[in-house]
Amino acid sequence: MNYKIALIRGDGIGPEIVGETVKVIDRIGERYGHTFEYVDVLMGGCAADAVGLSYPEGTAELCRSCGAVLLGAVGGPKWGSDRPAEQRPETALLAIRRDLGLYANLRPAALRPALADACPLKRETAERGIDLLVVRELTGGIYFGKRGRYQTGDRGLECTDLMAYSEKEIERIGRRAFEMARLRRKKVSSVDKANVLETSRLWRSVMHRLAEEYADVAYEDMLVDNCAMQLVRDPGQFDVVVTENMFGDILSDEASMVTGSIGLLPSASMGDAGPALYEPIHGSAPDIAGQDKANPIATILSAAMMFRYSFQLSAEADAIEAAVDQALAEGWRTADIAGPGEEAVGTQKMGQVIRDNI
Ligand code: IPM
Ligand code: MG
Repeated sequence: MNYKIALIRGDGIGPEIVGETVKVIDRIGERYGHTFEYVDVLMGGCAADAVGLSYPEGTAELCRSCGAVLLGAVGGPKWGSDRPAEQRPETALLAIRRDLGLYANLRPAALRPALADACPLKRETAERGIDLLVVRELTGGIYFGKRGRYQTGDRGLECTDLMAYSEKEIERIGRRAFEMARLRRKKVSSVDKANVLETSRLWRSVMHRLAEEYADVAYEDMLVDNCAMQLVRDPGQFDVVVTENMFGDILSDEASMVTGSIGLLPSASMGDAGPALYEPIHGSAPDIAGQDKANPIATILSAAMMFRYSFQLSAEADAIEAAVDQALAEGWRTADIAGPGEEAVGTQKMGQVIRDNI
């Protein structure tokens, strides 16, 4: 087994949260007798500063030489939309997804028992429990479609972004969703805008074909605007939510917020072969970077997903998740999840507590 891990520490709080996570991984290595090797990969705003490109030549090859990729966060106001595309961190993120073929993005959003009070919804709603998985298509649709910018005669500049989806792209993400549902509560909600968009009508017809094939899994169609509402009205109704790239981008942020803290949620992006990429859902939080304030839990839980999906080390993944839950149950809080009057600890202390629980 290739236990070589590519580390993209990135920008903002990225280096701090990856640093704590590496120490957790090493602790797992000690306890379970594995050796992990790390390869640092320069990508994001820091790469633009160092070599003039946010996605330096050879980035994908370096990642492909590893068994998995762990990413902290990239981006920040310093590298905004006034920069040329090749210096923007977002360009790098889209490029690595494309180059590694990471078309399936799994974003679990679960309310952790010790944090039920952090849920911003009504108590009755939180008490019903929230445990859903957003399966977002990650390499197609409008984020990867042709863009255009041209001058019109009388309306000034005009721009276009094309949303395209093929049957093949829809089918492979759909299969992932149904397969994941089989490992969970066996329900798939497919989210689209079929009352308006042609891509959504194709999406829906492919999903219906799959729903027949996976007859043991309950299936429903849901329009994206309704889904946005249902996520705050009754998130407990969802098991697996599968949707296209842009809808998934938006809905996964919403889903993460209903669980109380975006600082807790991990994600995995995978293709059919090659290394998968694991990263927290949150961004680089430049406002608190370098201050030992960031919550490392989302990145640590991303490492747990890495053990489970890339290394088939499920006992090790369980140990990390249990250690996080124990730290929360013991009352340890970083600033983002501390309630009124609760004392907050820093990034390093939280990492230490979790390690000591393994
Ligand atoms: C995410 C982010 C990215 C996306 C941006 C930074 C390009 O919002 O991972 O959800 O839209 O995919
Ligand atoms: Mg997003």
